[in-house]
Amino acid sequence: MTTYAVTGATGKLGRLVLNELLQKVEAGDIVALARDPSALDEYAAKGVQVRRADYDDAESLAAALQGVDRVLLISGNAVGQRERQHGAVIEAAKAAGVSYLAYTSILKGDRSRLALAPEHVATEKLLAASGLNHDVLRNGWYSENYTGGLAQSLESGKVFGAVGDGRLSTATRADLAAGAAAALVNGKGGDVYELAGDESFTMAEFAAEVSRQSGRQVEYVNQSEGEYAKTLEGAGLPPPIAAMLAGTSALSGEGELYDDSKSLSRLSGRPTTPIRTTIGEALKG
Ligand SMILES: NC(=O)c1ccc[n+]([C@@H]2O[C@H](COP(=O)([O-])OP(=O)(O)OC[C@H]3O[C@@H](n4cnc5c(N)ncnc54)[C@H](OP(=O)(O)O)[C@@H]3O)[C@@H](O)[C@H]2O)c1
Repeated sequence: MTTYAVTGATGKLGRLVLNELLQKVEAGDIVALARDPSALDEYAAKGVQVRRADYDDAESLAAALQGVDRVLLISGNAVGQRERQHGAVIEAAKAAGVSYLAYTSILKGDRSRLALAPEHVATEKLLAASGLNHDVLRNGWYSENYTGGLAQSLESGKVFGAVGDGRLSTATRADLAAGAAAALVNGKGGDVYELAGDESFTMAEFAAEVSRQSGRQVEYVNQSEGEYAKTLEGAGLPPPIAAMLAGTSALSGEGELYDDSKSLSRLSGRPTTPIRTTIGEALKG
């Protein structure tokens, strides 16, 4: 019997990974780690073992990983704290004698200029130094990051960004969850996967597809990084977040979120979801 633990199991990606795992292995062999186990009652009812684990509480991690063979470490969302938090999971996994760990990193890893990259790169280095058998799953951007604001775009007739005519190879969370579950069950270790959509699009193509499917005219308005940061602040985002997102948008215009390796569909065994499908789902509401 092999047991498979998933950290961040209460998150949007984590739940989709649990759903994938339930198709692949026995529910009782899945260990879902959560700060608040009661958030996963529906999975406990299916037979999944739900255990309390907090990246900030080493004892909880040691207890939660007892008897676990394989771990999926889903990166946390406390930006600035993550190197330490991920390091704590890696240490606990090593102490518990796990045989394999997969970590959800960022597309292009150490070559990425995105502001969010350094914590992921630091985690990749901790993993390499740990001696743990592991794979790195360098996730690209979620398609949902772009469809999340569709209601506003339909109202204003505009999608803003600083991407220029750069191409974006996004994948849905469900696509990336399928890849992560496949690695958790079958990964051998020693691999670095660049995981992104099979297809790519420009923001002008995105706006044209929204217009086609919604029947409402929506245009892409390209802004400088500084202008786009102001637009995001105007929409209510705190200045540091607006600056980070605008910087990401501008760098994505230079290919930081583009990848044509098709590694994700090879890993998951199925094509990734085209952006037109994700737009269609978002328009259904
Ligand atoms: N590729 C992309 O486009 C993209 C976009 C956004 C984020 N990400 C990264 O991908 C990860 C997964 O994405 P997502 O959409 O599932 O994010 P999410 O819904 O925000 O989930 C984050 C998960 O991390 C858990 N977590 C946070 N702090 C923790 C702690 N101290 N101890 C234990 N668990 C903790 C959360 O648990 P609680 O339920 O207890 O809060 C939640 O389960 C994110 O955390 C982030 O690192 C990627």
